[in-house]
Amino acid sequence: MKARDCHILKMLRAQKRHISFHTPGHKRSGQDITELDYSDNLADPHGVIARAEEDIARILGAEKSFLLTDGSTCGVLSVLYALKTRGVKRVACPPESHVSVKNGCRLLGLERVDVETQTRDAIPQQPTAEAAEKALAKADALLLTSPDYYGNIPDLAAISRLCRAAGKPFAIDGAHGAHLHFTPLHAGRYADLWVDGAHKSLPALTQGAVVSAHAGWSEALGEGVSVFRTTSPSYPIMASVEYAIKYPRNEAIERAAAALKGRVGAYGNGDWSKIVLPFGEYSDMAQAYLQAHGVYPEFNDGNYLMFYLSPCTKAGELKKLEKLLSRLPHGEVRDFACSFAAIGEKIEFREPLSAVGMVCARECGIFPPCIPLLRQGERVSAEKAKRLARAKSAFGLKEGKILVYSEE
Ligand SMILES: Cc1ncc(COP(=O)(O)O)c(C=O)c1O
Repeated sequence: MKARDCHILKMLRAQKRHISFHTPGHKRSGQDITELDYSDNLADPHGVIARAEEDIARILGAEKSFLLTDGSTCGVLSVLYALKTRGVKRVACPPESHVSVKNGCRLLGLERVDVETQTRDAIPQQPTAEAAEKALAKADALLLTSPDYYGNIPDLAAISRLCRAAGKPFAIDGAHGAHLHFTPLHAGRYADLWVDGAHKSLPALTQGAVVSAHAGWSEALGEGVSVFRTTSPSYPIMASVEYAIKYPRNEAIERAAAALKGRVGAYGNGDWSKIVLPFGEYSDMAQAYLQAHGVYPEFNDGNYLMFYLSPCTKAGELKKLEKLLSRLPHGEVRDFACSFAAIGEKIEFREPLSAVGMVCARECGIFPPCIPLLRQGERVSAEKAKRLARAKSAFGLKEGKILVYSEE
């Protein structure tokens, strides 16, 4: 792919040196500029940004796409805002949805209706079409994550059909799915509104993303975007998103990933870019060993190490990974049992190990994948407490402590 095919990058490279009496305060100009006469304006684009967004919408199959420099989080919030402006009051979504979905619902006063999910091999599964239909009957819209962090993809065709039949909008958080736009698995083929997290699986700078809409939703989505998007967009990020969406497919690495998955006994998922390997009790040891050899996975959830690929991954890197994997033991994956109890009134923070047996008052888990390990109302098990106590980075905890209901 040539940089000259990218409107924003081309504009940045063609800039003439000038004296900066404008933001940003570093005054160094170059690529990190602000909205000037020649660089267009993200909130009201007529120049290079408008042309980039038009190209992106065409590639993603959208009526309208909006560049985001504030991550998929901004896209999810904008989608929820759009749904709300069109009368949605209750949104059906799985409990494993990203924190941005939960925060957005809270912020906008949208009621969340849980879509039931099951766990297989200690990994939360995508909801079935039946579960989605059941939840949708009690809600005004459906919002799913596809693919999820483990590379699971729901039956998008069946679910979009049932949303259409019910006359209710279908939204997809595609924070992990921008690289699928070449394939029939892409969110844009099924959803009314969706997010493409370009920075996670395509060569875009961190925080670069896109939110898109099909006909009938563009105006509402534009309103949402204007509420949540920054008014000081980063040009390097915008340029990188245009570049990433135009980046060519790398079928050789897709094939190499599929073959590697088969050879190393990876968890079976539908997304080539996510290699999820079971290590069970050896997961911390395997992570430490790989990192000592210069190989960093995306996360370690206590059972699995997850390796995130992109079209920029090199065949040699997969070979190195495979060689190191051959020296590592594979343990049994442990399914953490889960039981719920009545919630209390008073709350307190407890060290994970001293919270065993108590009832969790605020969902928390390992970050990433940012999927709740403990939910509100769940009794804290010894296994989950140990996992949280060992976690190097977590969400929902305060100084490593779990919020629990006090025992009266
Ligand atoms: C499923 C899902 N949705 C949304 C987000 C938010 O994406 P971002 O970090 O780009 O704001 C994440 C981040 O990990 C995610 O995993």
